[in-house]
Amino acid sequence: MGIVITVTSGKGGVGKSTTTANLAVGLANLGKKVVAIDFDIGLRNLDMILGLENRIVYDVVDVMEGRCNLAQALINDKKSKSLYFLPASQTKDKDVLNKEKVKKLIDALKESFDIIMIDSPAGIESGFEHSIFLADRALIVSTPDVSSVRDADRVIGIIDAKSEKAKNGEEVEKHVIINRIRPDMVDAGNMLSVDDVLGILALPLIGVIPDDEDIITSTNLGSPIVNKEKSLSAESYRRIARRILGEEVEFLDIRVKKGLFASLKGMFK
Ligand SMILES: Nc1ncnc2c1ncn2[C@@H]1O[C@H](COP(=O)(O)OP(=O)(O)OP(=O)(O)O)[C@@H](O)[C@H]1O
Ligand SMILES: [Mg+2]
Repeated sequence: MGIVITVTSGKGGVGKSTTTANLAVGLANLGKKVVAIDFDIGLRNLDMILGLENRIVYDVVDVMEGRCNLAQALINDKKSKSLYFLPASQTKDKDVLNKEKVKKLIDALKESFDIIMIDSPAGIESGFEHSIFLADRALIVSTPDVSSVRDADRVIGIIDAKSEKAKNGEEVEKHVIINRIRPDMVDAGNMLSVDDVLGILALPLIGVIPDDEDIITSTNLGSPIVNKEKSLSAESYRRIARRILGEEVEFLDIRVKKGLFASLKGMFK
């Protein structure tokens, strides 16, 4: 039986889809059979980040409404063979999902995948609730700024309140990913540090991604950066993927800009 990992945040635009794409590829590269699902109904963009937008025929709503079967809608990545993708619908009706249909879909996917990664939409409306209610684990993405951290804190409370697991007296395993950190700004006292963020959120850290222009380029090219060899952000994603699988992996020291590979051994703090 597969596990459901939802990538979410409080504030929008903090890097959920980018994180979902890179971790889905990273986990597939580690040999897991992964399906990435875009739950951002009406505003899909995970397809572009994965470079699969031209291959979409059916979407997640078509599957739920019975207009096609799962096999017809799933897109197999050509590079990462064990990665599949289920696109969001472009419909304007954001309320097309309902819990019963979402559950049926996720249960079916659990039969044939090791990991089901859900990219949740911005905000805390119904789309968000559908993306977290079946989560076994949640990765909460926050940028190191006060509003993002405060909104993340709110979302953590909602995950605890609204998930199926919580209703059954269990807990959704939650980790924080801090995205777009700029060591120069932290050092100058102009950006929250990793410790500041963790102090507010009181959740364990699973990874820190530096602010990196190459991520924007790779997104535009539809080629997730995690596959790039000499890249600090790619290495950060690869390490998060390994941590998700339970491996203990050292944190990167992303403060050092020069001599990147000399610094790989350093601890973050
Ligand atoms: N670490 C990073 N460094 C630089 N740019 C980044 C980084 N992470 C994400 N971005 C950029 O930030 C923008 C928003 O990212 P993304 O679409 O993943 O956010 P999101 O949380 O999914 O947004 P939404 O809430 O609208 O769904 C994109 O242009 C992306 O390329
Ligand atoms: Mg998104």
